[in-house]
Amino acid sequence: MSEREPIGVIGVGWVGLVTAAGFAELGHQVYARDILQDKVDALSRGEVPIHEPGLPELLEKNRERIHFTTDMGEVIQNAQLLFCCVDTPPTYSGDADLSRVERVVEELGESTDHALVMKSTVPVGTGRWIQRLRSDVGYVSCPEFLKEGAAVADFMKPDRVVVGARPDSAEFGDRVEKLYEPLSAPIVRTDVASAEMIKLASNAFLATKISFINEIANVSEELGADVEEVARGMGLDERIGPHFLRAGIGYGGSCFPKDVSALKQLAGNSGYHFQLLSSVIEVNELQKRRTIGKLQKHLGSLVDREIALLGVAFKPNTDDVREATALVLAHRLIGEGASVRIHDPVALDRASELLGATRLCRTAEEALDGADAAVLVTEWPEYRELDWTGAIKDSMRNPLVVDGRNFLDDEALRAAGYTYEGIGRSTASAVEA
Ligand code: UDX
Repeated sequence: MSEREPIGVIGVGWVGLVTAAGFAELGHQVYARDILQDKVDALSRGEVPIHEPGLPELLEKNRERIHFTTDMGEVIQNAQLLFCCVDTPPTYSGDADLSRVERVVEELGESTDHALVMKSTVPVGTGRWIQRLRSDVGYVSCPEFLKEGAAVADFMKPDRVVVGARPDSAEFGDRVEKLYEPLSAPIVRTDVASAEMIKLASNAFLATKISFINEIANVSEELGADVEEVARGMGLDERIGPHFLRAGIGYGGSCFPKDVSALKQLAGNSGYHFQLLSSVIEVNELQKRRTIGKLQKHLGSLVDREIALLGVAFKPNTDDVREATALVLAHRLIGEGASVRIHDPVALDRASELLGATRLCRTAEEALDGADAAVLVTEWPEYRELDWTGAIKDSMRNPLVVDGRNFLDDEALRAAGYTYEGIGRSTASAVEA
């Protein structure tokens, strides 16, 4: 096999596109297949359908090496390592929907000198299930750990690469390891089930950290502590670490909610009640709704109140609105009788159909003009740059800010006459006083 073997990418969503661009950057010919003709045409013309920093540049730079197609035959003919990057959305039961993975396996046709390299997040046991379907095709689990908004950087500089190969696919496992060699990342070589579990356990652990710090924040509000200080003090302990201790209005996105629920469900299906994860999920749901209570604390009834939501995307630097807290908040506020206006620098169009009666605003200023309260949902840097103490203050009907990410300058806002509510710190000064 040549130094840089060609690879196939099946499913050109977020993960597939970043994987394709990343391997092309490392010098591989990439055959990237999607079932959507329009998407393939657009990508072939050089259009990028998602907002991901650095990705358009990387695709453009490596255009010659990436071949977009709808034809599975073209991929199979040109590459033996086939990265499966299709989505595995949650079903109503909380299990992962593997129908797209199953279709990919069916489409492998007669090929036998190929390996399916699973990047999609799948339940533990998927490798075994696929072995029963196609024992003549190799199988390697190589889960993705890409953060949206930083996915290109995460591909190029991974904390680790996990390679779980079936015993009869050891040679394919070696070849996958070799692909990642130029990135000099630690490689965790393991069995398939453990690789699948590493992915789910990593996301479940990070989600647990978030729900934990959110509960500390809620208790801190009652007891007069400041969660930002608490997180700083905790994070310096090497055993705890500083990451994922940012209190806020709950986690969202395409991975955490789905993966935590999938692991809980998987455990349940095998007869084990994963109690901790049930709480992690419940805390997250309640956390989203606490904002309503904070608004009511200052405004009383929300009927006919004008509430401005800043940010729709589940986090900054992405236009992904899957499981975004803003969607829950908008609908809850409308349910309380409020009028909701919303702004986001990039995600507004993607969210428009999901936002019901919410008024979409093209600028943050428009959303805040005449508002009874501003709720900062997504920590887009530009929201910090707004003229809060000048024009915004004059244009709001009532100067109330609920900062769902502890992101704004609370002292400056308070000094300018705002009522400021953060997460886990808003009442600290009041209690001391
Ligand atoms: C996550 C994992 O990080 C990645 O490894 C995996 O492969 C896919 O899922 P992503 O969903 O892109 O990535 O976002 P991430 O940056 O991890 O944030 C997830 C959510 O948690 C966001 O809603 C974010 O706002 C929230 N979060 C994160 C917090 O509320 N507090 C924190 O301290 C960190």
